[in-house]
Amino acid sequence: MEFQSQYIAKTPDSQGFINYTEDENTVWKTLFERQMQTMPGHACDEHIRGIELLRMDEHRIPQLPDINDSLYKTSGWQIYPVKALIAPDEFFKLLANRHFPAATFIRTLEELDYVKEPDIFHELFGHCPMLTYKPFGDFAQAYAQLVLTIDKKEWPLLQRMFWFTVEFGLIKTPQGLRAYGGGILSSIEETVYSVKSLVPQRRVFDPISVFRTPYRIDMKQTVYYIINSYSDLDTLVNSKISVLLKKAHELGEFEPTFPFEKNNPNIHIFCC
Ligand SMILES: [Fe+2]
Repeated sequence: MEFQSQYIAKTPDSQGFINYTEDENTVWKTLFERQMQTMPGHACDEHIRGIELLRMDEHRIPQLPDINDSLYKTSGWQIYPVKALIAPDEFFKLLANRHFPAATFIRTLEELDYVKEPDIFHELFGHCPMLTYKPFGDFAQAYAQLVLTIDKKEWPLLQRMFWFTVEFGLIKTPQGLRAYGGGILSSIEETVYSVKSLVPQRRVFDPISVFRTPYRIDMKQTVYYIINSYSDLDTLVNSKISVLLKKAHELGEFEPTFPFEKNNPNIHIFCC
């Protein structure tokens, strides 16, 4: 059965501003305050710096024109309001033009810890700060441009790369392991778990391995890939992706490291 969202994106006015309710701003405040507590020691410096550059605070949901003003000045990116989850085609076309899509609703208090569909907290707090860091913003654009040149039958594997970097990437730093993925950094539980827990596997970033790794979207990740520096991502977009994909196909899928249920739409897998 197709997933039906309970959320409806809010329509910006002619100036791009959205009239959020007091309850919606309270949800933002709760999420922002508790997430800021977890940033030191878990989030990478680029993300923490990005929050400052974008001048986000707990008082209210940031307005897109304000975010866009700061974002454009730092890295040339813009946030592009959308109604809901969009098709991969549209998604990568937006990214290729330095536009990051964001649905403009916020989760309810009842779904504070986990919301299936990405909301404005995930997009603004999880993703936007990293986009202020130009090398990362350049990677996100270059990767999307690359995806658009590749046969769509390969897109599921290419989406895995996006998942294990932009959404759930970890980076090695002199201070220790840190998160740079927006899926991690917008989740209070996963921010700590991804960096500190002994439960998940943490593998050295290797593009062929990433292409071979299934994932599940409705639980904390069981595998993370660690880059040594952002230049690993730069190297990736300058590689012969077709050769890497061919090798990944030859070697086949890794076994799932999460509970596997046949036909579960939350599982990104190609076998069985
Ligand atoms: Fe995301």
